Amino acid sequence: MLDLRLFLPKRVPLPLIAVASLLVVGSWVPLALILHYTQIYHTSPRIHLFQDMDNQPKLKTQAASPVFNDGRAMRRPVEGTIARGHLGAAQGTALHTGLASGHGENNSFITGFPEGLEVDEFFLARGQEKFNTFCYPCHGKGGHGDGPVNKRALSLQTGDPTASYGTSWTPSANLVKSENGALTYGEAAYPNGEIFNVITHGKNNMAGYGHAIPVEDRWAIVAYVRALQLSQAPEAATAANDAPASKATKTAAR
Ligand code: HEC
Repeated sequence: MLDLRLFLPKRVPLPLIAVASLLVVGSWVPLALILHYTQIYHTSPRIHLFQDMDNQPKLKTQAASPVFNDGRAMRRPVEGTIARGHLGAAQGTALHTGLASGHGENNSFITGFPEGLEVDEFFLARGQEKFNTFCYPCHGKGGHGDGPVNKRALSLQTGDPTASYGTSWTPSANLVKSENGALTYGEAAYPNGEIFNVITHGKNNMAGYGHAIPVEDRWAIVAYVRALQLSQAPEAATAANDAPASKATKTAAR
């Protein structure tokens, strides 16, 4: 049987023990230094091996900059810049919101058209073009709510909820519908500003098109919807147009 103790030195030399102890204690020094440097306050940035764009030259608020003539890093907004939420106040509330004043909960949609818009044949032609681009797919050429998207959706309705994965289709509104001689979406019941608002922000299951259609073009579409009503439901539309504007005091609910 081999006894391992035979291999142990009989006596460890003292210098060797001293050197070994020194090495062990000395190995703690870097650890202690690292710990120290992670805890103290630094005036300069830490060593950053991977920059990841964390540090890059930039000009901070109120700083000076030699780049610009006036020596300031902060620039004035470009002339005509409008802060978010201040559009209406700056450029005519009605034009941009369809609302009479743009303030308060009980604000009403405007009837007629905002100041500065000339409703002539060119405006209507523009409205027709835009309606046929953006609204026709669902609401149809005549505004009856029978566009190709609506037709396709209805043809897919089999009455079997599992076949349509439980989804259902909300038919596009019939914009020229009239009941008892009154237009559902006529100027009396549904002021121009409200149609503008629906185009801008959408409503219920209809998405908004404010991002895609410029402001004036949205008003042109409103004018064209009125033209459609006149051509598709002439009697009701004429009655609605003759109705006093004061009837149109629906409150804005976005
Ligand atoms: C992708 C299909 C789709 C497009 C495109 C579309 N609509 Fe609609 N629209 C709908 C649907 C669906 C409804 C019914 C929404 C509901 O009641 O849930 C609706 C409703 C409306 C209403 C009635 C809202 C109300 O208060 O009942 C108006 C007005 C209207 N759309 C105008 C427009 C105009 C103008 C355009 C073109 C800029 C347009 N829509 C484009 C699908 C569409």
